[in-house]
Amino acid sequence: MQDIIRELERRRAAAQMGGGEKRIEAQHARGKLTARERLDILLDEGSFEEFDTFVEHRSTDFGMEGNRVPGDGVVTGWGTVNGRLVYLFVKDFTVFGGSLSAAHAQKIVKIQDMAIRNGAPVIGVFDAGGARIQEGVDALAGYGEVFARNVLASGVIPQISVIMGPCAGGDVYSPAMTDFIFMVRDTSYMFVTGPDVVKTVTNEVVSPEELGGAKVHTTKSSIADGAYDNDVECLVQMRRLIDFLPATNRDQPPVWPSFQDVEREDISLDTLVPANPNKPYDMKELILKVADEGDFFEIQENFAKNIITGFGRIEGATVGFVANQPMVLAGVLDSDASRKAARFVRFCDCFNIPLVTFVDVPGFLPGTAQEYGGLIKHGAKLLFAFTEATVPKITCITRKAFGGAYDVMASKHMRADINYAWPTAQIAVMGAKGAVEIIFRADINDPEKIAERTKEYEDRFLNPFVAAQRGYIDEVIMPRGTRRRIARGLRSLRNKRVEMPWKKHDNIPL
Ligand code: HXC
Repeated sequence: MQDIIRELERRRAAAQMGGGEKRIEAQHARGKLTARERLDILLDEGSFEEFDTFVEHRSTDFGMEGNRVPGDGVVTGWGTVNGRLVYLFVKDFTVFGGSLSAAHAQKIVKIQDMAIRNGAPVIGVFDAGGARIQEGVDALAGYGEVFARNVLASGVIPQISVIMGPCAGGDVYSPAMTDFIFMVRDTSYMFVTGPDVVKTVTNEVVSPEELGGAKVHTTKSSIADGAYDNDVECLVQMRRLIDFLPATNRDQPPVWPSFQDVEREDISLDTLVPANPNKPYDMKELILKVADEGDFFEIQENFAKNIITGFGRIEGATVGFVANQPMVLAGVLDSDASRKAARFVRFCDCFNIPLVTFVDVPGFLPGTAQEYGGLIKHGAKLLFAFTEATVPKITCITRKAFGGAYDVMASKHMRADINYAWPTAQIAVMGAKGAVEIIFRADINDPEKIAERTKEYEDRFLNPFVAAQRGYIDEVIMPRGTRRRIARGLRSLRNKRVEMPWKKHDNIPL
């Protein structure tokens, strides 16, 4: 018996060494942690339960029959994050470069199936060289099985991808179908085809970092939702993210203890909006003052900064904040901002996360670049997302809500539940200058008359009261009481139920 137990211990110890001492050293020399070190940080101490420790590939081509490593390049299993169940697969670059064989894929698929069945998020950590080249179509088939689970799990359980090394070829499409992708600066990159293929096909000379580093994907392509300086910081932040999310689409997000009384007013908000309507102010200040303890997990912080998206809590329960940012492009809606916010809104709606929307938007961005780039359809995505969302929706207009952007930004007409406006709100088809130049064109050469008309327009329309008189705004509120109003509103909407017309699924403008 002792011998059998010793044999298990020996085999387990061998598996835990992955590709061996030298490759582990190489991993560290690149500033990267090993798969097991990553697990240790991501999960609560001692909570990891490993599956398939002894799985090996079954390939015999290219001398592979003599080259087998238990685990086959991916560590899989489940554990807890602050006591809550998560399933995970973590690629082990020290074993065949983390490349995906049929057996490796089966390990991932097992985890995905269990997560769907048992109702818990899946976290995938990527650091790999793509399809196991020696396995040919078996590797491609393995990817296909993983992709299919990603699609089936979408909207059922949260799926998070963390890129902590190379991620190329087949490896990129699984993350692309998950809810969030996070990267590590300088050590991770993602692309469909690498620099060598790019050079052969297009003659472009580009480094991996320039082609698909964290900077590219968080600022240009918007593939990644955030990036961190190193593995440790990234994994700690993933724990923070998990704390905001429910286990499945049938569960409510967790409620954590909250220490900031919602009844306390914040007088500083009364002066957040400057007297001059063209002067910017930082909308993040409002979010931080409304969220419990100013704790805000921003999504896509460095892309389309004219709109802010992210998670916070009110009275301990998760909410999704969407807010125009007057500091960037005056908070205008353009294609990128619309896409970014639409995807975030849809995530929140999938997972029962109420939406809190702050509006200060001068309209949609004019110009050929935007129109040629499909602004109509991109803007429609956000309109569609807000309208189809059945989670509690509370909107507060702080200043401008002009034109189509007024409708889009979770207005009453887009089925928002509670619509507030600050006294500084201006709700109209457009700003005074543009409006007067159109409707009083005959007076355009008479500055006195134009000034008079402008004043008339400002007095009539640039306030919240016309909308409030019609019930499009439920109440004009004091800025200082915004957190209390929203908290009470969310409490009142806790049992919200909405019947949707029967459909297989919608056809959102993609
Ligand atoms: C088998 C692989 C491998 C792969 C790496 N290795 N990628 N083995 N299949 N795809 C092995 C290497 O042979 C090496 O083994 C070890 O992993 C470490 O790799 P290195 O090249 O030494 O490391 P590094 O210099 O850091 O380069 C990492 C890398 C490079 C950039 C990822 O390995 C690379 O370019 N790999 C190939 C990437 C690729 O083209 N993959 C196929 C994509 S096509 P030894 O024993 O020497 O240490 C694809 C199609 C799927 O995925 C499509 C589905 C839709």
